[in-house]
Order: sequence, then structure tokens, then C-alpha cells
Amino acid sequence: MSEAGHVLAIDQGTTSTRAIVFDRRGVPAGVARREFAQHYPADGWVEHDPEDIWRDTVAVMWGAVDEAGLSAADIAAIGITNQRETTVVWDRRTGEPVHRAIVWQDRRTSDLCRRLVEEGCGPLVRRKTGLLIDSYFSATKIAWILDHVPGARERAERGELCFGTIDSFLLHRLTGGRVHATDATNASRSMVFDIHRQDWDDELLALFRIPRAMMPEVLDSSAEFGATEPDLLGRAIPITGIAGDQQAATFGQACFEPGMVKSTYGTGCFALLNTGGEPVESRSNMLTTVAYRLDGRTTYALEGSIFIAGAAIKWLRDGLGIITHASQTDDMATRVPDSHGVYLVPAFVGLGAPHWDPEARAAIFGLTLDAGPAHIARAALEAVAFQTRDLRDAMVSDWSAAHTATSDALRVDGGMAANDWLCQFLADVLDLPVERPAVIETTALGAAGLAGLKAGVYRDQAALAGAWRCDRRFEPRMDTAKRARLYDGWLDAVRRVRRER
Ligand code: G3P
Repeated sequence: MSEAGHVLAIDQGTTSTRAIVFDRRGVPAGVARREFAQHYPADGWVEHDPEDIWRDTVAVMWGAVDEAGLSAADIAAIGITNQRETTVVWDRRTGEPVHRAIVWQDRRTSDLCRRLVEEGCGPLVRRKTGLLIDSYFSATKIAWILDHVPGARERAERGELCFGTIDSFLLHRLTGGRVHATDATNASRSMVFDIHRQDWDDELLALFRIPRAMMPEVLDSSAEFGATEPDLLGRAIPITGIAGDQQAATFGQACFEPGMVKSTYGTGCFALLNTGGEPVESRSNMLTTVAYRLDGRTTYALEGSIFIAGAAIKWLRDGLGIITHASQTDDMATRVPDSHGVYLVPAFVGLGAPHWDPEARAAIFGLTLDAGPAHIARAALEAVAFQTRDLRDAMVSDWSAAHTATSDALRVDGGMAANDWLCQFLADVLDLPVERPAVIETTALGAAGLAGLKAGVYRDQAALAGAWRCDRRFEPRMDTAKRARLYDGWLDAVRRVRRER
């Protein structure tokens, strides 16, 4: 057991960077958070400045340790979790990025992806990576940077440039440029990683024109990644856990048994179903992905990814101006008896699973003269639940083809899971109990769990599963006919926004 009994988790998300210190029982002891700028240089383009992310990461690490009333000597290990797919290319020697990070939501490479699909590359990519060809993943973003930054391709071929997702970029910075690595969950989102062989795939690297020399080493999610530069926090602290944020949330939710499902409501919504040691191939447009890799053993998941969840509420606030704070939606939803037939399909950046339609755009249907802001706010929340139902139905059908049952509840987390009304509506629409954990920061908790396991702060996975506590369980109570009517209305609304029918 480690002397220093706390673990520091860095949770670098799409809109904010957080650090949380967890104690030996997995209870948060200190938190710090910073929002950072989003850049939209063209229609459908989304970028982040990696220097903003680095600056904020250092600030929140200090902030969380301070808030916990601790010092670096109390931190046994650091875990990193991150927005996935977001692509950084930087100079190996100086650590300087050659371009702003291209964010997972960015659709600038969707034409290239469409061409690759038309050329018949889909089955190859699917078989090796478990993914569908889409601009969401890193591969075409890397190629775009190499093609658009003068000299970048030649430098990458000479091994002078590094590619990494945000975890890898932060790891390189935290270790003073000594380590260029990532973990298997992040690698599995690149579209050039063979999830069966657990290695970068030369055929796919050639297809996407990415030099192997720029790819990071891929380690387990719980591993000795390196140690922080001593000057940074006052002493060298080992970094022993890394996972993409949705995988970290799966770990933090202790979804360790095959059939267990979690759904995280952040900017988007991502549902993962643990399929154990078996990579299940989806027949309904779900992704097959790495849930975590421990001691060289890979646990897989089926994933349903929807791009807009909390972002729709942000749009109600910043775009439409009908709320001033996200928490108001809870009140607004309960103020009206129903959504009055209003449906909001939040396809602001196209549709993710199970439709994968980059050309679809958001729409509100069913407006009448007596519809008001409360109906629209309620429709935005309802859309989150309907989309979760789309994902769950698809995952359950993929999984049930070969297995007896999925778990009898959905574990939820992320900012929107604090909304009681939404959790109840989710249970109603899914006809399934919804469980909200006591620690809602499950993403950070998962990163801390992975790091703490390696550092000896946490004994084993069973101890982490034993520490998971349910704060509240929402039982379904909507009658069957109403559930069917509401969901049919949703399916009809989605059909109407689809460009590719
Ligand atoms: O795949 C994108 C995902 O990792 C982003 O997560 O929490 O920033 O919405 P979040």
C-alpha cells in the first residue's frame, strides 16, 4: 500500500478541464475546474488550443490539491481521462503543437470519409477497428493536419512529429517530453488501431496516409506511464492510469460484468455495454470498442455515441436564450404536463449512432401557437431520453443475439444526470430502472480507479465495485401505450430530419 493515500484525476473534457483528488475510499476531497474557449473557424469545424488545455490542466491540478488541503506529497498517483478522438500533432522535441487540436465534433473530413465508404473501405475498417468510417474518429483529422500544415507530412515521416489524443499530449507535457504513449481505449478511437491484435495497423495507416513514426506507444489503461517533471508539482508523481472519458466512466460506474450498461450525459451522450473479453460485432451501427485493458487483457464494449445531449441545453441558453442556467430545465419540464406534441431533434452536427448521418440538421416539430419555452425545454430533455432508447434498443439487440440478458438497470452519470426529472423520464421511456451513483463524477473516479489500482491505493476491481453506491434509483412508471405513442412520435421526427434516408 502506498504511503500517500490520495489519487489525482485529470478530466480533460470538451468544454472544461477538471481535476479531482480522491481519497482511499474513492470520495472526492478537492475539485477545480476551468472552462476554455471553443474555436469554430468554419461551418462544421471545431478546434481547441492545446496551450489553453495545458495551462488549465496545470492550474486545476494545483487547485484540486489545494482545495483538498493537501500537498503533492499526499498524491500517490495521477490518472488522466480525456475527450476522445480530438487530435493533436506536435513537435517531438519542443512539444509545440503544429496546429490547433481538431475536436471530435469537427466534420471537415466528412467528404473524405464518404469517398472512402463509396470506395468500399467500410468492411475493412469495421473488421479491424470496430468503427464505422466517420469524421468523428482521429485518422482523417491527422491526415488533414499533415496535408494542410506546410512541411508537416515530411516531418512526420522523419519521426519529428507526434500524434496523440489529449491524454497523450498531456502525458508528453507532464513528463517533460520524455514519454509519447497512450492507452488502448484511446487508441481504439483512432480508426487505425486493430482492436483484436491491439496494435497500430499498417494497412489502415497506409489507407489514411499516416506515418507509423508519429504514433504513440499503446499501454494498458492501468500502467506505469511515467512520472511528472519534479518542478511541476514539487515532486515527481507517477502517472499510472489513462482512459478515454467514456471508458473511464464505465470503469468508475464499476460496469465490470458483461451485460452491464452505463450512459454518460456530457456534451454528448455515450452509452457503453460491457461485452467482456469478446468484441461483439454490431448489426445495428453501434461501435465495438475497448472498454479497458488491464494486465494485457482487453475488455470490450458496444458503444452508442450521440453527439448532442448537454450541448442542446447549452443551445437553449446561448443560442435561443430561453434559459439562463441549465438547471432551470428541470423546473420548466415539470411546469407543463407534457411537451404538447413538440419534438426537438438535436442534429446540430448531424446524427451519430445508430443513424450516422452527417448531413442531418436539427429541427423542432409540432409547434402550435400555445407552445412556449417550457415545451421546447422539455422537448430538449425528452430528446436525450429518446436517443438513449435508440442506443439501448440497438445494443440490446446486438448483444441478445448471443447472450441471455443485459443488466436490469442503466447506470447514469455526467452533469445532466443530476436532473431528477430527466432520470425519471429516462426510466419511463426505456422501461428500465435508472440508477444514479452517489459520486456523479464517475469519469474522474474511473481515471482515479485505474491509476490507484496500479499505485496500490485501491486493492482490486472487486474493492472498486464494492465502493460503488447508488444515490437514487428511478423506477419506470409510465403506461405502455403512452410510452409507445411518445416514442413513435420521436422516430417520426428523426425520419424527417434525415438527409440520407
Ligand atoms: O467521444 C467524445 C467524448 O469523449 C466527449 O465526451 O464528456 O466531453 O462530452 P464529453
